[in-house]
Amino acid sequence: MIKNNILVFIFLVIINNISYSASQKSELATKYKATNSINNKASLQRGAKYYVNYCSGCHSLKYMRMSTLADDLGIEDAVFSKNLLFTGKKIGETMTISMKESDAESWFNAIPPDLSLTARSKGADYIFAKLNTYYEDDSTNTGFNNVALPNTSMPNILANLQGGQKIVLDSNNNPVSLEKVSEGIYTEAEYIQLTNDITNFLVYVSEPAKLKRYSIGFWVLLFIFIFTIIAYYTKKEFWKDVH
Ligand code: HEC
Repeated sequence: MIKNNILVFIFLVIINNISYSASQKSELATKYKATNSINNKASLQRGAKYYVNYCSGCHSLKYMRMSTLADDLGIEDAVFSKNLLFTGKKIGETMTISMKESDAESWFNAIPPDLSLTARSKGADYIFAKLNTYYEDDSTNTGFNNVALPNTSMPNILANLQGGQKIVLDSNNNPVSLEKVSEGIYTEAEYIQLTNDITNFLVYVSEPAKLKRYSIGFWVLLFIFIFTIIAYYTKKEFWKDVH
């Protein structure tokens, strides 16, 4: 009996959690899907550049060593130092930033989180959705709101690139879609690529070893394949006289 009660309890906890996380996510936010692959090196290189230009003023990547980044992305140290190095840093250091938490708190009412592991904890689609679902909202401090992270205190950093969006609500005040209301510097396709590149870069940063694992995996499978052929013919040769 007690056992049964425990099982029912566990079942209820699981169901509760599933429905809780489902209700937390806005339907509209789930429509935004990141599409890049970390095997696309050109995209990772662009993503790193955009990150340093647009995000690194506020967000550190405290687990990412710049020399590892340069190696993995195939960027020469000299080129890296010139274009991507965080201000006042050496290439062997990690990508921490100099903004004081107390300053951040008073400027944004929130501390910009370190983004090293965000792609793993919250998913690539969430980052992509966050960068794509800003819309104009006069009731907030920044003048913008966000579908993926409602009432976010992060300013709409890429507003002039994307252009303005307005939210379309249904009769129950649920968000249905976002509507373009003013043009940005980038076309829609260019903006999607930009945000995919940044997302892709953050996916790589959240697990740099994945790149190596993938390339090692390829050679291991190739070895197993070739070895199978050799083993097959060796077996044939050995058993030839027996049959
Ligand atoms: C001016 C400072 C600033 C800049 C620049 C900035 N952010 Fe933010 N960001 C914030 C703040 C502050 C928060 C916390 C928002 C909140 O909790 O409401 C945040 C939150 C986030 C989150 C949500 C993290 C989480 O755990 O939910 C993501 C993802 C993010 N930023 C990505 C980016 C990316 C990518 C860029 C570059 C394109 C960027 N940010 C540029 C200030 C900034």
